[in-house]
Amino acid sequence: MRKIYIFDTTLRDGEQSPGVNLNTQEKVEIALQLEKLGVDRIEAGFPAASPGDLAAVNAVARAVKNASVIGLSRSREQDIEAVREALKGAQDPCIHLFLATSPIHRKHKLRMEKQQVLETAEAAIRYAKKYFDKIEFSPEDAGRTELDFLCEVTAMAIRAGATVVNIPDTVGYMTPSEFGNIFKVLREQVPGCEKIQLSAHCHDDLGMATANALAAIENGADQVEGTINGIGERAGNTAIEEVAMALETRQAFYGAKTGLVLSEIARTSRLVSKLTGMVVPGNKAIVGANAFAHESGIHQDGMLKEKTTYEIISPETIGLKDSKLVLGKHSGRHAFREKLIDLGYELSDEKVNEAFAKFKDLADRKKSVTDEDLRALIEEKLIQTPELFVVEAIRVSYGEPQTATQATVRLKAADGSIHEQSAEGNGSVDAIYKAIDKVTGEQVELEDYSVKSVSHETDALGEAHVHLRQGELSVHGRGVSTDVLEASAKAYMDAVNRLVDKRNNPGSTRAGSMKLL
Ligand code: KIV
Ligand code: ZN
Repeated sequence: MRKIYIFDTTLRDGEQSPGVNLNTQEKVEIALQLEKLGVDRIEAGFPAASPGDLAAVNAVARAVKNASVIGLSRSREQDIEAVREALKGAQDPCIHLFLATSPIHRKHKLRMEKQQVLETAEAAIRYAKKYFDKIEFSPEDAGRTELDFLCEVTAMAIRAGATVVNIPDTVGYMTPSEFGNIFKVLREQVPGCEKIQLSAHCHDDLGMATANALAAIENGADQVEGTINGIGERAGNTAIEEVAMALETRQAFYGAKTGLVLSEIARTSRLVSKLTGMVVPGNKAIVGANAFAHESGIHQDGMLKEKTTYEIISPETIGLKDSKLVLGKHSGRHAFREKLIDLGYELSDEKVNEAFAKFKDLADRKKSVTDEDLRALIEEKLIQTPELFVVEAIRVSYGEPQTATQATVRLKAADGSIHEQSAEGNGSVDAIYKAIDKVTGEQVELEDYSVKSVSHETDALGEAHVHLRQGELSVHGRGVSTDVLEASAKAYMDAVNRLVDKRNNPGSTRAGSMKLL
């Protein structure tokens, strides 16, 4: 099995992501985690960029023991000296020199002819060779460089002493077949190419960074450069975790693998996200929160029968505990029942069906249904009180600031008849409760009222509680809804229903009984 070397540039190209700025301590923390992940090479920074970056690269160089530590350098002596200084104390130091080679960069940025580019790069490599055994050279914007000139540059770099020639698609312009072809041509046509390693460095401007890196591997690349979570300049770099998992999952196709400890992927991703402040999108391959989450009923059913129906990677491989079955409007009864069992509820088929209908109704109104939502929903269902009235609808209208709020409630009686009443009140809840009183005709005293959220999003379920008194009788009612006013109305109605039940059936223990489970 061919080994593909992983050159991690999270601390250099990744740090070039707009808004990201890692201090020395943070760079060391990430570098030590990258070492645990088993990357072969860690590009720790660009020492000539600032004294702070030089110090950070030095701290990484001294901390890391099991990976080569690399400093980036333009093709000039001062930069090379800065890398020398920064890599003092490194177990396995390497310098990464670069100079742009494409016609656009030669003309507008460097204002150099081809010959000058060749001479400048060669002088830099030879200078660096006095101090470094390991030298990587990158013809910047190689993707848009004339292929024959790229061959010339590569041949020069090998002669001058480079041990790795890295091919950057600096602006993410290449297609996989074009990028792969560069590697094929270099391998076939450049003298001495068999003595060095070829590396692929891709950017994701067209969303092809991983595909391009894999095409490079298919065509003879020995090393892939990239970052954790794919962070980096503009749209970012190749995501290392994607390359590693593609090689692992499609081993028979690629015949190559990295030396990464795959079970450290999730941890590394979380750390990089935390310290860079770059949130990983939910749908990001391998490390996104949804990468192992299944919502649709058909998928959840398949997953529960046999995971390989919808998962090509097991979450444990990258260090996660398990896949998630997210309950939402597409979920099916099978996953719903499993979830209830997980939460400790063993319901009869009839009760599951009843709860499932309620759940679907909730899922239509809410993005995803959390465990807390489910508990609230199920527990509300357990409290079986004969319902004299159920709340069908409420409408609240607000007038000028000093005027009373008006509420209209529509209640359905046990015999199916519909009753509608309006009332004014001191605020929405007061108005709703007065309107309910008009329908029921019950004289009750509100002893306590509270409302709280049972999960944490803005569309979370609101849970309302009321305590009512009527003479000697005192009852508690509870209501749950994504709308707090609806929850409040349901809680009040629940309490009134209990009160009437208690009055009519003095010895009953029905209310609050759990035996229906
Ligand atoms: O994208 C690029 O060209 C680079 C070089 C410095 C290798 O990051
Ligand atoms: Zn880059």
